[in-house]
Amino acid sequence: MTDRYAVFGHPVSHSKSPLIHAAFAEQTEQDLSYQAIDAPHDGFAEAWKTFITQGGRGANVTVPFKEQAHLLCDQLSERAQRAGAVNTLWLATDGTTHGDTTDGLGLVADLQRNNVRLTGARILLLGAGGAVRGVLEPLLNEQPAALFVANRTADKACALAADFSDLGAVSGGGFASVTGQFDVIINGTSASLGGKLPPLCDGLFADGSVAYDMMYGAEPTVFMRWADAQGAKTLDGLGMLVEQAAASFSIWRGKQPDVTPVLATLRQQLS
Ligand code: ATR
Repeated sequence: MTDRYAVFGHPVSHSKSPLIHAAFAEQTEQDLSYQAIDAPHDGFAEAWKTFITQGGRGANVTVPFKEQAHLLCDQLSERAQRAGAVNTLWLATDGTTHGDTTDGLGLVADLQRNNVRLTGARILLLGAGGAVRGVLEPLLNEQPAALFVANRTADKACALAADFSDLGAVSGGGFASVTGQFDVIINGTSASLGGKLPPLCDGLFADGSVAYDMMYGAEPTVFMRWADAQGAKTLDGLGMLVEQAAASFSIWRGKQPDVTPVLATLRQQLS
């Protein structure tokens, strides 16, 4: 029987994951199917159980189920434990459900593919929600010189930084407390969705710095336009999407797909 994979979300019809994983499977000659499953808001655990009784081997999990997925796992990677969220599930041979999170790996891989140096860099990370929590460990593993988490609600940024302070030089505060210059500024707030810009002062970009928005769209986000006007190189989160999918695929199938052609197809479809 063909191995079945899926992405669970609600809503999920917009998801690009089926297209991405079909392309990865073709590239690496893996016999598998991958579908999008819209689970009821309070019915994720049931939906996963039903899926595995029907040949499901693994899944991606997106909004709003990442925390519920974290709760149902029998085994979690250390990364997923810290993130409090899971975006990749798989069924082990003993029938237990394992979980990991590849969002942060995807971000770091995309930055590295774009030749952005993280080791020794001064990084500013905007936001303190689930998206930012999910990327902190892989970013800190690259040993930046300093990582500052800035958020509209300053307390949340401080608490988040404290949770990860054993991994490196991370601190947090409100937007008004952001000073100095940064080599990399990453927007992990959901402000871009509403076309809003986090209230930051100008002059935060060091020479040759990079602005990365974890969101993406047909047009550059308002954050990218703001950064571009100040001379920063800008990147959106489409590459992170494809890279996190590649990391999930490699966990499931033991094969590392080539993201470049898949990213090019998605970029073309967006424009
Ligand atoms: P996600 O899972 O996408 O991270 P979330 O956990 O709801 O979603 O977090 C959203 C993040 O975007 C938070 O950091 C939020 O700031 P608050 O913690 O102060 O709520 C931030 N955010 C949302 N809208 C924003 C805006 N207009 N300006 C600045 N930050 C915003």
